[in-house]
Amino acid sequence: MIWTKEQRYRRIEDADKEEILKLQTEVEGCEWRQTFHIQPETGLLNDPNGFSYYNGEYHLFYQWFPLGPVHGLKYWYHTKSKDLVHWENTGIGIEPSGVYDSHGAYSGSAIEHEGKLLILYTGNTRDENWVRHPFQCLAIMDAAGKINKVEQPVIDHVPYGYTDHFRDPKVWKAEDEFYAVIGAQRENETGCVVLYRSKDLQNWNFEGELQTSLSSFGYMWECPDYFEMQDQGVLIFSPQGLNPNGDLFQNIYQSGYILGEPLDVRTGTLTHGSFQELDRGFDFYAPQTMLTPDGRRILVGWMGLPEMDYPTDKNGWAHCLTLPRELWIRESKLIQQPVQELQVLRKQQHDIKDVLFDEKKVYQHFNGASFELICEFENIDAETFGVEFRAGEKEKTILKYDVVQRKVILDRTFSGEPFGEKYGTVRKCSVDGSKLKLHLFVDISSVEIFINDGEEVFTSRIFPGAESQGIRFFAEDGRTLFQASKWDI
Ligand code: FRU
Repeated sequence: MIWTKEQRYRRIEDADKEEILKLQTEVEGCEWRQTFHIQPETGLLNDPNGFSYYNGEYHLFYQWFPLGPVHGLKYWYHTKSKDLVHWENTGIGIEPSGVYDSHGAYSGSAIEHEGKLLILYTGNTRDENWVRHPFQCLAIMDAAGKINKVEQPVIDHVPYGYTDHFRDPKVWKAEDEFYAVIGAQRENETGCVVLYRSKDLQNWNFEGELQTSLSSFGYMWECPDYFEMQDQGVLIFSPQGLNPNGDLFQNIYQSGYILGEPLDVRTGTLTHGSFQELDRGFDFYAPQTMLTPDGRRILVGWMGLPEMDYPTDKNGWAHCLTLPRELWIRESKLIQQPVQELQVLRKQQHDIKDVLFDEKKVYQHFNGASFELICEFENIDAETFGVEFRAGEKEKTILKYDVVQRKVILDRTFSGEPFGEKYGTVRKCSVDGSKLKLHLFVDISSVEIFINDGEEVFTSRIFPGAESQGIRFFAEDGRTLFQASKWDI
C-alpha cells in the first residue's frame, strides 16, 4: 500500500472504528509479535523518548504513529515500569495537537523538577508549502500521570546559521542549571549539536555549538545525549550521511558516541577521541539514556531504522525498543550490559559443557523462539566456531567467530523473511582474545548479542518461521571447548 501525505498526517480520531479494528486484527494475526520487548499495539514505533525515573517508577515514551507502519503524524506513547523489565502501557503521552506541534510531537527528553516531570520535545510543524518549522516545546506530567502542555514553545526559533533540521532536545542538570543539547544541521548541510542553558526549564539561552573535532561528519545529527560518568564526558548521537568504511557504518544511518574530557559548558568545548559505533548489528538507532536512582546509566535504543521496510509492515505494525543496557567506561570505550533486572525473566535453566571437534551439534533442551543464552568458548584451535539459532530446515541465524580474521560475524542471510538486503546480510566486528563469551537475548523476531560482557553489541531483527527453533553449536577446522546456559523466557 502506498500512503499519501493525507493518510500519514491523520490523527487517531480521523480513522473510523472499522479501520482501527481491521488494523488491530492484522496486528494480532502477526507471527512476529515480540514477547518481552516494548512494541506498539498498532502502527509504527521509533525513538525512545523521555526516559526517566519519576514518582517511584521508570517512564519510557516512544515516537508513535498509530495508524500504520509508516512515519506519519507522531505521538508520544507512554509506558512505565517498576523494574525496567515489565512495562505497562498507559496510553498516549503527548498528542500532536497544537499550533506548535501540528505535524508531530517529535523526540525529546524528561527531567524531574519541583515534584513534576518536565518534558522537553520538538514540535514539528509544516507550513502551506510543506516547509518545516521546528519548535522546542514543554509539557509537564504530574504525579497522577497527567500531562499538560505549556502553551508557548520554550525555544521558538532556530538560531542563525542552522537549517530547519533542528530537533530532539536532551536535558540534564548540572550545579543549579539546566542544559539541553539539540541535534542540528548547519547551513552548509553538515550535522552538529548545539547547547542551550536555562535556570527554570522555561527560559532557554542559546549557548552556541558544541565544539568537537567532527566538523564535517554527516549531514544531520539526530537524537544527541550528553552525560558524564567516571569523570569523563560522553556525547551520544545518531549521524546521518556517513559512508560505509570497512566493517563500520554499514546501516543506512549510524548511532555512536564520542568520549573524552567533560564538556566545558562555558566554551562548549568537548575534547574527545574518535567516533565509535554503539552497536554493530543491523537494527539500532536513536538511543537515549537515563540515570537510575542507584546511579546507573541505562540506555534504550530503537530496534529499527528510518526509511526501511520491515516484514511486519504487512501486518500493520513496525519496530520495538531494545532491552535496557547499563553503560560504563573501560579504556575509553562504552561497555554495555543488559540490566541485571532482566534475570527475572529467566525460567527453566539448562546447561551443557562439551568439546566440539570439526562438527555441528545439537543438545536436548537447547531450542526455542524466545530465550536467553550464554556461551563461553575456550581452548580454541578451530578456525571458526559459534552457534546457529532460530534454526530450522532452511533457516538459521549464524553467530560465529573467525579466528583468522579475529572477527565476530553475524549472518542473517538465512534468518527467515529477507529485508534490508540492500545494506548487506552480514555484519562483522573485530574482537581480540583467546576466549569468547556470547550472551544472547532472542525474542520472536529479534536478537541482542553482548560480546565479552558488553565490549560489543549486535542488535538485529530477524523474521524466521515459528517452527525454526533449533540451536546448533559448531566448530570448523579444529576444536573448541565450550559451555552454555540457556533459560527459556
Ligand atoms: C529519529 C527522528 C528524530 C525525530 C523523530 C521523529 O529517528 O528522525 O530526529 O525527532 O525521529 O519521529
